[in-house]
Amino acid sequence: MKLPDFNQMIDRHNTSSVKWDFLNRDLPLNKADLLPMWVSDFDFQCPEEVLQTLYSRIDHGIFGYSERDDHYYQSAIDWFSRRHKLTLYRDWFTSIEGVVPGLALLIQMLSKPGEGIVVQGPYYASFAKIITMNSRMMIENPLLESQEGYKIDYDHLEQILEQHRPPLLLLCNPHNPTGRCWDSDELLQLLMLCKRYGTTVISDEIWADLILPWGKFTSILHLGSEWHSNVIAATSTSKTFGLSSLRISNFLIPNPELRHAFIDRLNAHGLDVFNALSMAAATAAYQHGDIWLDELQHYLAENRCWFEQALTSAVPWCRMTKAEGTYLAWLDCRDLGLDDAALQQALLQKAKLVVSMGWGFGDSGKGFIRINLGCPRQYLEKAITGLAQLTS
Ligand SMILES: Cc1ncc(COP(=O)(O)O)c(C=O)c1O
Repeated sequence: MKLPDFNQMIDRHNTSSVKWDFLNRDLPLNKADLLPMWVSDFDFQCPEEVLQTLYSRIDHGIFGYSERDDHYYQSAIDWFSRRHKLTLYRDWFTSIEGVVPGLALLIQMLSKPGEGIVVQGPYYASFAKIITMNSRMMIENPLLESQEGYKIDYDHLEQILEQHRPPLLLLCNPHNPTGRCWDSDELLQLLMLCKRYGTTVISDEIWADLILPWGKFTSILHLGSEWHSNVIAATSTSKTFGLSSLRISNFLIPNPELRHAFIDRLNAHGLDVFNALSMAAATAAYQHGDIWLDELQHYLAENRCWFEQALTSAVPWCRMTKAEGTYLAWLDCRDLGLDDAALQQALLQKAKLVVSMGWGFGDSGKGFIRINLGCPRQYLEKAITGLAQLTS
């Protein structure tokens, strides 16, 4: 197996990349001058085995309608068993091209217009989009900041559940943007509250494979069958292997009633045909991606440690949140004393960086920025140089 070189800088311009080619959509700036560190996709090539599988599938030359086959399901089951000691059953699987579209359909299926859906703020912006654009009410339960990273505010959560009786809570684990991995005690406490108030928990576990050496991922499905009637977990190979445009995701639904209702909904929208290349890539990734992923995790951990040290010495006004997973850095910029608009301008004009502004993650994200550390180290060096310019 060819070992990956994550330091390799690959030009992504002119590949229709949202991150690199569309970064100046709303900005009157030359994109060639800017370093994009915003969208959550990384700048590494996917594993060689995935590429080879795609080449041979393309060589075949026929791309008629395709379905997920037994190899796909078995490779996913084996992956979760091997990597996460999680037993999944073939029956639990439902699939759709993308986690966000699946979440949107579940929102439509499990709530009515006007009803509330709970998210933990700061929250992934697409959660807000699919909740509000489906005419549901966003209810934010802000996470509590602490020295050890963010924590769930259970008292406030209980108040919300009691007051609004929301049918759904969207959990993100590992959490985008903060990088927290909720542990089994935290998940259990959340599940107990949700069960008491009849709230179904959908756990978006798209980041499950990108765990730092000191972190541990616990799926909502690890917690035992007594909780299974009320939980759904979403997973995908997209973040893990950089396959975001080869869309395929799994919605794991142990409760047969919920599962059949979801399958009916997929069928009702004609969403029962799959992209042959996505399936080939995901199957190969699950089957052959272990060593590549181990190397990636090691590189991402080194990136994070390097970045944190460099921040401490060169950008002392910026504090990095403790994370256990993801390649995202959630940076507290409040000590700089700029409002969000001024901060964004300074980042663009002086630092030449395109980041995700914290306000895009809700009110609790104000004063923060999210930076994507899933890139060759040289980009991080540029980012530190740019950030240091803000006070020079
Ligand atoms: C928590 C979370 N869920 C879902 C997605 C996107 O999933 P998909 O591209 O499969 O719709 C992202 C992408 O950043 C994410 O961070």
